[in-house]
Amino acid sequence: MSYLFPTYSKKSLRIKEGRGAWLQTEDGKDYLDFMAGIAVCNLGHRHPKVVAALHQQVDRLWHASNLFHYDVQEEAAKQLVQASACDYVFFTNSGTEANEAAIKLARKATGKNHIVSMKQSFHGRTLGSMAATGQDGIKSGFGPMLPSFSYAQFNDMASLHEAVSEETAAIMVEIVQGEGGVHVMTASFAEAMVALCKEQNLLLIVDEIQTGMGRTGKLFAYEHYGLDPDIVTVAKGLGNGFPIGAMLGKASLKEAFGIGSHGSTFGGNPLAAATAIAVLAELSADGFLPEVEEKAERFVAYLKGELSGIAIVKDIRHKGFLIGIETAIPALDLIAACEQQGLLLLPAGSHVTRLLPPLTVSESEWRKAVAIIKQAATIYERENSFSS
Ligand SMILES: Cc1ncc(COP(=O)(O)O)c(C=O)c1O
Repeated sequence: MSYLFPTYSKKSLRIKEGRGAWLQTEDGKDYLDFMAGIAVCNLGHRHPKVVAALHQQVDRLWHASNLFHYDVQEEAAKQLVQASACDYVFFTNSGTEANEAAIKLARKATGKNHIVSMKQSFHGRTLGSMAATGQDGIKSGFGPMLPSFSYAQFNDMASLHEAVSEETAAIMVEIVQGEGGVHVMTASFAEAMVALCKEQNLLLIVDEIQTGMGRTGKLFAYEHYGLDPDIVTVAKGLGNGFPIGAMLGKASLKEAFGIGSHGSTFGGNPLAAATAIAVLAELSADGFLPEVEEKAERFVAYLKGELSGIAIVKDIRHKGFLIGIETAIPALDLIAACEQQGLLLLPAGSHVTRLLPPLTVSESEWRKAVAIIKQAATIYERENSFSS
């Protein structure tokens, strides 16, 4: 008997503890964790420097409220600003709240309500970010959505042009659609989208909640395309498991988010801020992200090579360590087979298996993961007499 609302289809595993790329269950079995808490534990479980930063802050101050200046919160904001294209930060507790802040800011700053997001996008579960999400299944049963969103086809400029009107305040986009099936933005779409924003005076909101904090090999995935977004949202990896999100914005938007315009009791509280500082320090350490980028390329090349003869594998897409294997079989079948062999993976839609290893994963760990996926796929093919 569980006293929780059954909103999640939970695995039968009962997780006791984690270390690095590994999780251990209550009955003592070890699992290689390529879910990373759904793109959260980018530095692995219980990273010693993040743990130490949180312990220190626990002994100092937990909460006094955003009616006070906290040095630790200012420092976290400064580091985000210095590392990004933006000038100011609003802290939240989650990704969906960061996107709510972005939607409110874009509307207030422009005096317009209409926002164009993408089909198959995912931006969260609260009413505003759910309305921004371009997937009907997520919205079903929740009544009328905010009416002020249109949805363009991702990577399709004609569709984007069609969706934009004189009433449009902003374009809201993920650089890689993570939940939507691991679809990577094309360079030509990025370039044309920026040109359209300039031409029509639109704000560009980049949702980096899944792609940010090093997941794609850069701190922010927009860096791969040289973009200069007006608003950026982050969460997930920013706290490596401690709840924190943030909306970053350009100086030109500062007036619109003046006193009393928005708020959060907990957003950026000292525990969350101290954790984020430790995470950002690790991610920005000399050579860390270039090594992640290079390691991800080697991993994906090896993965593609090992799975090349397997008929159920249709496509492998990735940006850094955000990786999708599209299969001819349901993703949940492949995931269940891998779980039996001790590897934890996620779906991204019905036929895409998502791999989100911690950025700190070792070569022996990623080789083990590939061996498990290959074995699981091969056995599946044999047992189901599968041929392409
Ligand atoms: C791109 C993107 N935006 C927003 C969210 C929502 O974040 P949260 O679950 O922290 O509210 C997610 C979560 O998966 C996401 O991947």
